[in-house]
Amino acid sequence: MQKPDTIEQVQALLTAQGYVCGRALAVVVFLALRLGRPLFLEGEAGVGKTEIAKALAAGLNRRLIRLQCYEGLDASSAVYEWNFPAQMIAIRTAEAAGAADRGALQAELFSDEFLIERPLLQAMRPDEHGAPVLLIDELDRTDEPFEAFLLEALSDFQVTIPELGTIQAPEPPIVILTSNRTREVHDALKRRCLYHWVDYPDFQREVEILQARAPQASAKLSREVVAFVQALRTEDLFKKPGVAETIDWANCLLALDVIDLSPEVIADTLGAILKYQDDITKLQGSEAKRILDQARASLAPS
Ligand SMILES: Nc1ncnc2c1ncn2[C@@H]1O[C@H](COP(=O)(O)OP(=O)(O)OP(=O)(O)O)[C@@H](O)[C@H]1O
Ligand SMILES: [Mg+2]
Repeated sequence: MQKPDTIEQVQALLTAQGYVCGRALAVVVFLALRLGRPLFLEGEAGVGKTEIAKALAAGLNRRLIRLQCYEGLDASSAVYEWNFPAQMIAIRTAEAAGAADRGALQAELFSDEFLIERPLLQAMRPDEHGAPVLLIDELDRTDEPFEAFLLEALSDFQVTIPELGTIQAPEPPIVILTSNRTREVHDALKRRCLYHWVDYPDFQREVEILQARAPQASAKLSREVVAFVQALRTEDLFKKPGVAETIDWANCLLALDVIDLSPEVIADTLGAILKYQDDITKLQGSEAKRILDQARASLAPS
């Protein structure tokens, strides 16, 4: 599958995967593809950052390789490791067989057979469908030394394995980095990338997302659900609901055969949208009704 030639094609490609994409996002995705630059996406939780990489890989028919970041992630977990237990077994077997050629054994022990490829190395391997999409997810969870290492890796797309030599990607992967901004990512890394802040969608776009992801929900219920969640996001909450929560909630309501929101139904299903007890407590009593009234008012034709 060829890379899209226009911004509209990017939008169509993502829409075909059920990903609703505004123009601003389509423009940076287009530029990232066109210029071969990594795309750095920041935003609140559950707004569709990870999903973009998945939709793009599926739409372009490329392999998706995901590097999930966490505290303490190091180069060996990100690039490659030698399969130490298998190497030990091979040594024992060679010893038992009385093999004498140490050089041959050493060459065998440090060959592809004993190499465990981690995501960054996998992303540099040739692929018949073209360069894969490399998703470096939740970068803010790693620490600065790893970030510095990544900066190197992203600049030349090659890895040197002392025993094997240098492996260079025939075509650089399509790189998408995401962050929830629990800490600021270093400028040097950001400078290499195109940047986009993924915001909560507006009412119309969130209704479209819901129609794409929970198509069984009626238009009326979808609009009420979205209006309520959007009203909820203006409240002073510890953790605001993302798009993921809107979809979850709609699915919960469908499972309960709800056709219309009511304060009682909301109270019963709050756990799908709010994940902190303090936030749930805030919505008890008359609060849910007040927000529902506010949401309905925003839906009323003016
Ligand atoms: N624009 C969109 N179009 C279609 N689905 C969307 C969109 N935005 C979000 N979603 C849905 O919301 C869910 C959550 O999205 P995703 O996991 O990508 O969020 P995230 O921003 O990576 O969140 P986190 O920061 O928690 O990892 C996805 O399963 C996806 O179905
Ligand atoms: Mg994510």
